[in-house]
Amino acid sequence: MKKELKVSAIREGTVIDHIPTKSTFEVVDILDLRHHDNIVSIATNLPSKKDKKKGIVKVGGKFLTKEEVNKIALVASNATVNIIKDYEVRQKINVNVPDFIEKIIKCSNPNCVTNIEKNTMTKFYVLNKEPVKVRCHYCERDMPSEDIKLK
Ligand code: CTP
Ligand code: ZN
Repeated sequence: MKKELKVSAIREGTVIDHIPTKSTFEVVDILDLRHHDNIVSIATNLPSKKDKKKGIVKVGGKFLTKEEVNKIALVASNATVNIIKDYEVRQKINVNVPDFIEKIIKCSNPNCVTNIEKNTMTKFYVLNKEPVKVRCHYCERDMPSEDIKLK
């Protein structure tokens, strides 16, 4: 008998696959899935050939915006976003940290204008993608991945 863990296929929606185990719940938070009104399957610590251990998040009835895909890239740079229609994988997107990041992360410098004038949109230049390292456009502070906090 073949023993394996099966997480049900979805009919329509998005499957985020190859998430590093430690980032699985960050993906859940980025997509605000605690309040999602359709199937949400979350699996973590799954054995994987490609990765050490992986997480997978399946979301029925939801297609991601570019901003959501970019946010996922910040916590799971090797994730694959699969768009499912009629039970078939219609598109496979390899997430990619963008060269320039707007709005989605906070500056770690408390004196930065983006933390004082709350309606100033944050802007960062990506200095390195793996691990992620960014520089604030306004105060020029460099932030390594451990300082990067999503908004
Ligand atoms: N999937 C799903 N529901 C579907 C179709 C696919 O939940 N109706 C899931 C699969 O379980 C898999 C992911 O979507 O986790 C991608 O599917 P597929 O491309 O068929 O799998 P692989 O070839 O293993 O993908 P990869 O090469 O990206 O590892
Ligand atoms: Zn700043």
